[in-house]
Amino acid sequence: MPRLAYVNGRFIPHASAFVHIEDRGYQFADAVYEVVAVQDGAFVDLPGHLERLRYSLGELRIRPPLGLPALTLIMHDLVRRNRIRDGSLYLQITRGVAPRDFKFPTATKSAIVMTTRRRPTAPVRPPADGVAVVTVPELRWARRDIKSTSLLAQVLAKQQAAEAGAFEAWMVDPDGFVTEGASSNAWIVDRNGVLVTRQADRSILKGVTGNAIAGLAAGRGLEIERRKFSVAEALNAREAFLTSATTFCVPVTRIDLQPVGDGRPGPVATALGRHYLDYAGRQEPPFGWAP
Ligand SMILES: Cc1ncc(COP(=O)(O)O)c(C=O)c1O
Repeated sequence: MPRLAYVNGRFIPHASAFVHIEDRGYQFADAVYEVVAVQDGAFVDLPGHLERLRYSLGELRIRPPLGLPALTLIMHDLVRRNRIRDGSLYLQITRGVAPRDFKFPTATKSAIVMTTRRRPTAPVRPPADGVAVVTVPELRWARRDIKSTSLLAQVLAKQQAAEAGAFEAWMVDPDGFVTEGASSNAWIVDRNGVLVTRQADRSILKGVTGNAIAGLAAGRGLEIERRKFSVAEALNAREAFLTSATTFCVPVTRIDLQPVGDGRPGPVATALGRHYLDYAGRQEPPFGWAP
């Protein structure tokens, strides 16, 4: 059976799934998206992703093409049809197809596309010695709280990381503070053992995974501070790690070629990674789905 995509109401073989050349997502990045991990046949943190999707659409005044129950049903159906046990689902909603004009078109229906992927995208098992990140200047717009498909700055950042042999790029604002990773949230465990990550305002995307991990950490008595941290503080920290739906929780052991702590994955990040993996494996599978 060919891999299927969902495009505006139809399940279509992935290889022959296309959108219109005047789709506003294509021309203006006038679109939002979500990536949801699938673990043992069930979506991980689905309510958080749906809530953020609702928020992103609302902030851009894009009318949802479907109600949430129908959307969720189709997401489950695509995962089932593609027999994804462990992987991820990508969902994109654009303002729709209209003759090219910057302002919002009237009476245009929003457009929706969904695709799935098998592991290894989700979750990437952290390499035993952690991962390296490089720092890059923050080049993005001022509404990073919206999960928009306007990702050119992240494309450049990820390419720079790849060329440096690093796993991720950490973007740094003009004052020297880390905002987040190109596709993940950035964390440190500071000298006092406190978990630190930037406050979720408009300067970063509020990570669904990071939020769940913060909950797991708090439940284990760890202190969490939502504040800015500099690259220098990260290098001087006990540990660093990153979180996202596709990587879960990954220890960061090098920043710009310099070791973090003793240069090895720290106990807090390692334990949180294990806890999250366990939590991800305990999510409700979709109705009728036997992995
Ligand atoms: C810029 C950015 N920050 C943070 C994240 C992590 O968010 P989540 O944990 O919801 O995947 C992502 C995920 O793609 C991202 O693109």
